[in-house]
Amino acid sequence: MPSSWTPAAWRDRPAHQQPAWPDADALAKAEATLTRMPPLVFAGEARTLKERLGEVARGRGFLLQGGDCAESFEAFHPDAIRDTLRVLLQMSVVLTFGASVPVVKVARMAGQFAKPRSKPTETRDGVTLPSYRGDIINDLAFDATARTPDPARMVQAYHQSSATLNLLRAFTQGGYAGLHEVHRWNLEFVDGPLGDAYRDLADRIDDALGFMEACGITSDTAPQLRETELFTAHEALLLPFEQALTRQDSVSRRWYGCSAHFLWIGDRTRQPDGAHVAYLSGVDNPIGIKCGPSLPVDDLLGLLDTLDPHREPGRITLITRMGASGLAEGLPKLVRAVQREGRPVVWVTDPMHGNTQVTESGLKTRDFEDVMSEVHTFFEVHAAEGTHAGGIHVEMTGLEVTECTGGAQKLHADALAERYDTRCDPRLNASQALELAFLVGEHLSQQRTRAPSPER
Ligand code: PEP
Ligand code: CO
Repeated sequence: MPSSWTPAAWRDRPAHQQPAWPDADALAKAEATLTRMPPLVFAGEARTLKERLGEVARGRGFLLQGGDCAESFEAFHPDAIRDTLRVLLQMSVVLTFGASVPVVKVARMAGQFAKPRSKPTETRDGVTLPSYRGDIINDLAFDATARTPDPARMVQAYHQSSATLNLLRAFTQGGYAGLHEVHRWNLEFVDGPLGDAYRDLADRIDDALGFMEACGITSDTAPQLRETELFTAHEALLLPFEQALTRQDSVSRRWYGCSAHFLWIGDRTRQPDGAHVAYLSGVDNPIGIKCGPSLPVDDLLGLLDTLDPHREPGRITLITRMGASGLAEGLPKLVRAVQREGRPVVWVTDPMHGNTQVTESGLKTRDFEDVMSEVHTFFEVHAAEGTHAGGIHVEMTGLEVTECTGGAQKLHADALAERYDTRCDPRLNASQALELAFLVGEHLSQQRTRAPSPER
């Protein structure tokens, strides 16, 4: 970070995907309010996450990142938070078992509101209105008032994030996420072969805990059995919001984006000279870069120079999202260039955003086969290149929605309308997410039995 950097450094660069706020005074008022609010996360927590990701970059861990495409004000409910957390915890134990390495859990929650859109406006029956950009900006309803960007929504999103994070902290530190609860996470949930596989794994964990207890290792002596670490993440898209929640650490004097532990740059806002890169270059959080099929290798290397000049393990996570058919061609050239430059990154697959299709009835969906296929290719490419396949990034929910087709339930496109609740992109439902975790777990156990990943 240049010493002259300030949280406003992005303002003299072109900022893509920002709403046209109609009321500058209201915007300034909301920014001033947020600037006075307590940070949602603390610098020390972001540093801890960076250390954990540093281990993943060295091949000694796996990142699980998941949650909603877009959180909403309407769907805000403690049960929904609990259910998504529960599936993340279930996925995490499945992966820990497959990998026998620590799984770093990062939720797309408590701040994942703003959405990039392919068009600034939407037209229906001859009426053109601003596109919906996420509840932190405007409302999904198709009328002029609802679609007008309203800065007060940023303050509401802050409070919702704060309450969400409070509940997540209570669950993860108050016993709900303890390993003695693995059976309970599955109650009233998955049946069939997937449920059996999960119950089998939970039995094995119970046996292991019983053995450890007999040896004197209990949740009193080993808090890891009773608590778990969970971090939050979102796309750092809405820059006035991010700026207003940027704080300077009193100890190190470094700046941190205190709206979440981990912030990422979306595939549409990664312009090397753009505002989003300028903002993220100055905060010391671990950050992600979405890498879509159109990302030139030289742009990626330039982004790494700007965002990680000190080559710090854990600083950068590269989240590739090229689609099931594009990854085999697109990924190796990025991996080779990054290796050649000796850059210590975490490689993650987002098997969702390159596999979106629109059904005949006009619903956005993703097929579970495509999702699995992209994950499979991700592991194959990294095995071939001798690099560590370091994590997955998925849009998922703990609810039994019908947004992605396929999976063990063989969800058909005709059934999508039954429970299609997303505000933006289609998410894996609880069963599909767990099924994916088992598949990834298998890949991880294969990765483990091969030669150890090279240290970087
Ligand atoms: C997202 O993760 O919701 C997203 C918009 O992704 P991308 O920037 O990769 O399209
Ligand atoms: Co999305």
